[in-house]
Amino acid sequence: MAKISKIQVNLNDIKIVPINSKYNRDLIDFKTEITELKSFLIDDALENQNQKISLTFLWFYKDQLIGYVSLLNDKINLEGNLKTYFKEKDVLYKSLPALKIGRLCVHDSFRRMGFGRLMMVFVIQKAELIGDNIAGCRFITLDAKRNTKKELDSIYFYKDIGFKVLKERKKGTTPMYFDLKIY
Ligand SMILES: CC(C)(COP(=O)(O)OP(=O)(O)OC[C@H]1O[C@@H](n2cnc3c(N)ncnc32)[C@H](O)[C@@H]1OP(=O)(O)O)[C@@H](O)C(=O)NCCC(=O)NCCS
Repeated sequence: MAKISKIQVNLNDIKIVPINSKYNRDLIDFKTEITELKSFLIDDALENQNQKISLTFLWFYKDQLIGYVSLLNDKINLEGNLKTYFKEKDVLYKSLPALKIGRLCVHDSFRRMGFGRLMMVFVIQKAELIGDNIAGCRFITLDAKRNTKKELDSIYFYKDIGFKVLKERKKGTTPMYFDLKIY
């Protein structure tokens, strides 16, 4: 049993599968007030996967679709403080490889129960798997969706996990990164 914030989750009740047309009914029932994240799931996620643009993992809890995360490859251009940091370590490349979280969403009725954090652990494990076995991967990147309502402003969720701001922006999205080397 993993004790997460508000419910006891038996990890055996969680099923993680790549998106597939057999789950179309579950996609329709998925509820999020962020309409763009619902339409991505319904209209784009499978097509992007077929086009090898991103891979979407569906998260089921007791057979209900409670979240999804889409991943793709990325890089960070080294500028400013990051450039200085790596220069001091004699790393002089212009950019470094990363795994990007393209989309991440937890069903409205399952928020603040710890699932988002579990999904982030899953992504960190995937990035480490890639970095240790397949190809260099130094960072996880994402564009955090900003919202004037704090409970919907995802930047706090990511900061809590250890992500840092790559570029300051007040509105829209804020690019963030997580350094896998210091994890
Ligand atoms: C952001 C999101 C993925 C977080 O998932 P979640 O399952 O609700 O998060 P968790 O329950 O794992 O949260 C773990 C901790 O992160 C922090 N946290 C989560 N959301 C937060 C918020 N909006 N503001 C401040 N802290 C937050 C809290 O410390 C929380 O622990 P607590 O509930 O004990 O205080 C989810 O709320 C969501 O799907 N939001 C809408 C879509 C979205 O913004 N996606 C991100 C796109 S980049």
